[in-house]
Amino acid sequence: MPFSHRIQAVEGSKSVGLASLVGKLKSEGHDIIGLHVGEPDFPPPQEVIEATQKALSDLQVRYSLVPGIPELREAIADRFSSRSGKKVNLENILVSNGSKQILYNIFQCFIHEGDEVIIPAPYWVTFPESIKLAGGTPVIVKSRDDLGLDLEAIEEAITPKTKMILFNTPNNPSSAVYAKEDLLKVGELAKKHDLLVVSDEAYESLVFEPNVHTSIASLSDDLFQRTITVQTLSKSHCLTGYRVGYMIAPTKFIEPVNKLQSHLNGNVCTFAQYGALKALTMDQTYFEDMVATMVKRKDLAYGLTKEIFKCHEPQGAFYLFPSLDGYEDRFKTCNEAAEFILKEAKVALLPGSAFGIDGYLRISFASHEDVLTEALGRIKEALK
Ligand SMILES: Cc1ncc(COP(=O)(O)O)c(C=O)c1O
Repeated sequence: MPFSHRIQAVEGSKSVGLASLVGKLKSEGHDIIGLHVGEPDFPPPQEVIEATQKALSDLQVRYSLVPGIPELREAIADRFSSRSGKKVNLENILVSNGSKQILYNIFQCFIHEGDEVIIPAPYWVTFPESIKLAGGTPVIVKSRDDLGLDLEAIEEAITPKTKMILFNTPNNPSSAVYAKEDLLKVGELAKKHDLLVVSDEAYESLVFEPNVHTSIASLSDDLFQRTITVQTLSKSHCLTGYRVGYMIAPTKFIEPVNKLQSHLNGNVCTFAQYGALKALTMDQTYFEDMVATMVKRKDLAYGLTKEIFKCHEPQGAFYLFPSLDGYEDRFKTCNEAAEFILKEAKVALLPGSAFGIDGYLRISFASHEDVLTEALGRIKEALK
């Protein structure tokens, strides 16, 4: 049976694909270390598990409101208001099945067939495919060599068909945290060309000093009126499997997405939302300690990686993004390098090509220090 043109035009997620290959190799007895993972290795705190169990016992197992339970939307609004300085309330929040789905919903609601969406590369793997599923055309703009936004190149890429600028800060895979000055310039471009801005901030809580995360929506009223901010509890609160992500936007943008969601997924799993509510309202020390641990891991992994590759120090998230400069004679592409490392060092990592940029590798440091030391030691040995 022929598949739809829509799905034929889309590539499968390379990170999900690698995860299943690694699972298969491990089940066959291969000693693979997975530094390809995009989730914290911390479990959710016990309070969150108990709140979820209690919600189940209390029979929070029915349909609930499409945009999310009001208490959760309120807690999200409070968190965003206090962290960004931009006051929002529950009407500005819509909860969905992870930020992956909220992004899909947004593109379905705002992109007309043939609209162009500017995406700085490297970008999160799902962006171009999700845009294509909405009938849009991803326009990829390479970032500067220091992996910050190339504003001139972004402006040059704007055409009469451009509808939206979509970016992700702190960035997966580069771990760059976009500077406030650059975001202000993005805002000027958006205003000048009347564009919508979608800011994916999945890693907003994972930022390493002296870097500071800026939500572009908080920079001016004009920017708030043209921006949709996307965040998630997946990384900040170790809840990847709960599937709780959300958008923050003016109500004029919430309404169409709510309409779509009412026909698509209805509500996010009701008892998972109560667990998420607990995660946001409990004492945050557990999550702050996780960030402190990530800083230690970043220092260790960055130090070891610099001995092998040229690499910028991560500013946020939990990835190293070393370049393959100096290895051109050994590997024609970064795919070849990643395959070699998987085969010879038995370490799984992702090639930069999965994120729209060749010549780089993405190494996750969301693993225990001993695992990082062993894995990076193996890579060093294999590349000697
Ligand atoms: C940049 C970015 N955005 C969104 C997501 C999706 O997160 P979730 O759907 O779990 O909220 C991820 C997950 O890896 C990500 O890295």
